[in-house]
Amino acid sequence: MARRRIIAGNWKMNKTPSEAVELCATLKDLVKNDAVDVVYCVPAIDIVPVVQAVKGTNVSVGAENFYIEDKGAFTGEISAPMLKDAGVEYIIIGQSERRDIFGENDILINQKVKKAFASGLKPILCCGESLALRKAGTYKEWIKRQITWDLDGITKDQVMNLVIAYEPIWAIGTGETATADQAEEVCRMIREMIADMYDAEAAEAVRIQYGGSMNAANAAELLSKPDIDGGLIGGASLKPDFGQIVNA
Ligand code: PGA
Repeated sequence: MARRRIIAGNWKMNKTPSEAVELCATLKDLVKNDAVDVVYCVPAIDIVPVVQAVKGTNVSVGAENFYIEDKGAFTGEISAPMLKDAGVEYIIIGQSERRDIFGENDILINQKVKKAFASGLKPILCCGESLALRKAGTYKEWIKRQITWDLDGITKDQVMNLVIAYEPIWAIGTGETATADQAEEVCRMIREMIADMYDAEAAEAVRIQYGGSMNAANAAELLSKPDIDGGLIGGASLKPDFGQIVNA
């Protein structure tokens, strides 16, 4: 079974609503590719105009964050039903900035993965090690621990619809990309973990992205690796280069 490639932009805290609509117009013809799932994960305030702007195109919309309750006294938060109602399909969970700047731990991230599936949102679950862990040589253990915690209680059917993004923190926004071999090593390890935790069918189905300074110049080599099924792209998702990554 061939896995469908998924190229997702993580716009982070960039683009006002009107700038977001402009970017959709700029990218519209560049991201056409029916063989690839193309996703724009956008700031909450951009969701409604972006859903409108990509209507009738091959682009799906994702959110960058949400909270695990459906409604209530959670000032500043956005719920899964709100995202669903607005037309959101994907949700990024556990991106390293959420973990490091906003203190999200693996317990909350696991709750978010469960809530996303229960709500019909497709999670893009992020994992990845710091430069210190990479240098210490303990990065594989770290990522194994993240995946074990984050997928606690997740069923095989759910995992088969999961996207996992391997994003080494030292490569995010730094211009320093993992080599294709470094990225493939960890993506393959994650797939082997899924085989151990579930079975071969689940491992074959789960889609694994690489993220961290992926750009128009390095995308084709990264995406040529057998266990890299796509990319989660920050900086380059805000530029016409994103179209080249989609079509790499
Ligand atoms: P980057 O960000 O492509 O700017 O390195 C990737 C990410 O954080 O998802």
